[in-house]
Amino acid sequence: MRFFGDPMQAIFASGRERQAQQRRWQDLVAAANATSQAIPPLLESFGEHLPPHLMAMYRHLLKPAWRTLDVLLHVEETAHRAVRIEQPEASPPYLEAKRTGESQIEISYTSSRRLCHVAKGIIRGLSRHFGEQVTISESTCMHRGGARCLLTVIAGVRLSL
Ligand code: HEM
Repeated sequence: MRFFGDPMQAIFASGRERQAQQRRWQDLVAAANATSQAIPPLLESFGEHLPPHLMAMYRHLLKPAWRTLDVLLHVEETAHRAVRIEQPEASPPYLEAKRTGESQIEISYTSSRRLCHVAKGIIRGLSRHFGEQVTISESTCMHRGGARCLLTVIAGVRLSL
């Protein structure tokens, strides 16, 4: 595996279902390797499909008025914190988010899995979920020797759905 150390664990399940999802994930990566499909875009598109499911998991922890940037600013102390407590076998990444402008935030991502491509996909998927447009840039990346990945997210106009 070129991009992360261990196969990503299943996100929504535990026990047998978790193992089955883990196998599906390994198959997916094996298929990408076999067909020479680039893994980063695959990971991004995987991440992009997750937000509706992720939001449903811990809806009660997320305020109804929150939009893309708010969810990102609070995800660590809400959803990922709850995951760490309720699913001891899971290890979500550490996301430190801070506001750096009226419509701009910076997220520091750290994980031994180095799945910043999934993070970028999740951010895109979140913005789609809220009908917003975002621009994501990455000034430091673990795949380019950084100790963490630093993502800047700028929210733009609200799209009419
Ligand atoms: C909104 C609610 C969210 C929930 C309920 C949630 C939950 C989870 C869970 C259960 C995992 C799997 C951990 C494991 O099995 O070891 C995970 C992994 C992950 N999460 Fe979240 N998450 C949420 C939001 C986000 C957001 C907004 C981002 C990105 C900015 C993010 C980035 C990631 C990434 C990249 C992983 C892959 C594992 C890794 O990097 O080590 N998550 N999340």
